[in-house]
Amino acid sequence: MLSDERMDQIIHHYGKDILAHAHMDIERRSMQHGDVTTYDHSLRVARLSVKIADRLRLWNHVNLRALVRAALLHDYFLYDWHDYDNGAHRLHGFRHPYTAEANARADFQIDDIVANSIRTHMFPLTPVPPKYLEGVIVNIADTLSAVCETVGARLPRRGHAPAAGKRRCRCRRADRRR
Ligand SMILES: [Fe+2]
Ligand SMILES: [Fe+2]
Repeated sequence: MLSDERMDQIIHHYGKDILAHAHMDIERRSMQHGDVTTYDHSLRVARLSVKIADRLRLWNHVNLRALVRAALLHDYFLYDWHDYDNGAHRLHGFRHPYTAEANARADFQIDDIVANSIRTHMFPLTPVPPKYLEGVIVNIADTLSAVCETVGARLPRRGHAPAAGKRRCRCRRADRRR
């Protein structure tokens, strides 16, 4: 079972150029869910994707490099979706996988596993399911992360005691690792 530190090493090994790209500054400035930026959300999805592959012993079935890169790039749409469509952002959910794929193709060399996983990460909101196991994992990790971040934003912050009987959201722990 991989440690959190080892999983972070794997993500930085396979995603170093993505994390260092100048366009990631846009992700660092853009909010995704609650007070979580798109950059932190993408890192969380990458960590969770690697964790799922590890805990389900899928090492012989996944392309780890493609898994990490698809997870880091799945929301590479490069704008703050709150501003999309003059603030209406009704179509963002449907369109952003295609924008993310186009941006990823423009900035990086991506193979079909990565491209398909980015394009299908919002399934079933978008009509076509992932073609590869890597895409299924990213889809699940993204959904779990989105729920965690959205619910986590409504729970007490670190340093504030949770209300009696309430547990602190585990998502906050991931934010402390960069
Ligand atoms: Fe997304
Ligand atoms: Fe996402």
